Amino acid sequence: MSEAILECRNLKKYFDTPRGKLHAVDDVSFSIETGKTLGVVGESGCGKSTLGRTILRLLPATSGQVLFEGRNILECDKKESVELRRKMQIVFQDPYASLDPRKTVFQTIAEPLQFHKMYATADGVEARTYELMRTVGLTERYASMYPHEMDGGRRQRIGIARALSLNPKFVVCDEPVSALDVSIQAQVLNLLMDLQEQMGLTYMFITHNLSVVKHISDEIAVMYLGQMIERASSRDLFANPAHPYTKALLAAIPMPVLGQKNLESEALSGELTSPVDPKPGCRFAPRCPYATKECAEAPYQLREIAPNHWCACPMAGKL
Ligand SMILES: Nc1ncnc2c1ncn2[C@@H]1O[C@H](COP(=O)(O)OP(=O)(O)OP(=O)(O)O)[C@@H](O)[C@H]1O
Ligand SMILES: [Mg+2]
Repeated sequence: MSEAILECRNLKKYFDTPRGKLHAVDDVSFSIETGKTLGVVGESGCGKSTLGRTILRLLPATSGQVLFEGRNILECDKKESVELRRKMQIVFQDPYASLDPRKTVFQTIAEPLQFHKMYATADGVEARTYELMRTVGLTERYASMYPHEMDGGRRQRIGIARALSLNPKFVVCDEPVSALDVSIQAQVLNLLMDLQEQMGLTYMFITHNLSVVKHISDEIAVMYLGQMIERASSRDLFANPAHPYTKALLAAIPMPVLGQKNLESEALSGELTSPVDPKPGCRFAPRCPYATKECAEAPYQLREIAPNHWCACPMAGKL
């Protein structure tokens, strides 16, 4: 078994809001092995992006630990911080919003190389920039173009080239294909998977779209109101979902395969409760068709219900 490159221990990120403390990420623990992909799924507002950003230290954590290559990076000094910024990168959902409209493709990709002084000469930067463009499938004729002159798929290729320019080890992909046409999504997903293999990258792949994450993830984690409520291998999660919330999410995916057994779960109903000063007990209970009195008081705990299959439903195995 290979080593975990990244491990989160009891990670919390709370926001102070006028209504109280918003528990965006609440006591999240997991690890990702080198070269693997963890898919992170859940409805809008469940804390996926906040989790990714807190791991990358784009947001300060409230408490907990993030171990990268065995070291708690929430406590590192300035010099280590610069080094970590190279090793841990992010690809955003909306390449248009994350790219500077006044910079050409060449300037955009060259910028991190110049900032981190990766090459002593301009020739070195230029050669590497063109190499990166080729890697993500952009020919040289795009070098002098601006983001607005390109389509969404090519813009996302710029975002990927920029994220990869410093030879990172770990990349958070935050809904990288959600803003793209369906026809282009597969191309960008294939590119990300090819690059992972070539460069030995480890991904945390955030999406609200379970069918996207199925093929590219080794493991999948499901989040609900800041908590990780189920985690298993991609195959296990789709074959044997244990948490009623996961079952409802899977039941909501259109199943194109004829004859495929429909999951017995009902569609999601009821209101999404608020992550502000949440009550104790299972956060999904108010919407859960199986909730019992016990659920309203059960403390949050991910339990291993089968080998490497973790579930926080208090009734898992009892239903
Ligand atoms: N800077 C902030 N200040 C206060 N609350 C925030 C802030 N950023 C995020 N939140 C809140 O934290 C919770 C989690 O938000 P987050 O953006 O991480 O969700 P998400 O799962 O990425 O959603 P989406 O699928 O819509 O991108 C939400 O309730 C959101 O309103
Ligand atoms: Mg998000």
